[in-house]
Amino acid sequence: MSVASLVADLHTARPLVAPSLLSCDFANVEREIRKVEAAGAKILHLDVMDGHFVPNLSFGIPVVKAIRRVTELPLDVHLMISEPWRYLAPFREAGADLLTIHIEVAPEPQPLLEEIRSLGAAAGITLNPPTPVETLRDCLPYCDLVLVMSVMAGFGGQEFEPVALKKLAAVRRWGGEDLLLSVDGGVNLDTVGRCAAAGADLFVTGSALFSQDDYGAFLRQVTRLAKASKDGQN
Ligand code: DX5
Ligand code: ZN
Repeated sequence: MSVASLVADLHTARPLVAPSLLSCDFANVEREIRKVEAAGAKILHLDVMDGHFVPNLSFGIPVVKAIRRVTELPLDVHLMISEPWRYLAPFREAGADLLTIHIEVAPEPQPLLEEIRSLGAAAGITLNPPTPVETLRDCLPYCDLVLVMSVMAGFGGQEFEPVALKKLAAVRRWGGEDLLLSVDGGVNLDTVGRCAAAGADLFVTGSALFSQDDYGAFLRQVTRLAKASKDGQN
């Protein structure tokens, strides 16, 4: 599938919930993926951590490749790594459909975003809570996705930081409706409505989702709250 049709499909399906597999049962990844597929997930979020840019390690290229073998869902790969330029092609070859890099490690990200698109993936930029949102304004024309971190990158299960809300609103204002605007960290039934009202349309959920018995009920509820909150804005 081309980048353009992938992004168009994702736009049509908004609001979307992206399960972050970081909080799933890694002894049974395939079973967890079947469960989120059955629950109606249309995209998976994969968190790559290098123990350097963030103080935690998660997984890398071989695991993305293994996940690619067991699902057709688009893979939204969040690179929390110091030197993303070294790994864009390998992650794309492993099956990433969207590749998101941190602006903190690439203050002039345009060439990397262009490279991601030229590899046939959708290009994303992200920023941590302390990083001013203005830093990414100039690169928006080269992005298909902006991921606003509402926790410091590195761990699941942290508390939502409201500083993300103003950033979401600013990015939506600057980037227009065509941009996929994602929020990551502490997204749950209490916070999703505020994120949607601020302009988010792709909601990454890790611990809040995988702590549920019924993933389907949770995904429906998050989606309903996101829609209700957005409709309330219009
Ligand atoms: C944090 C990761 C997140 C994480 C979110 O660095 O980028 O994707 O899995 O987890 P929750 O939803 O538990 O905050
Ligand atoms: Zn993430």
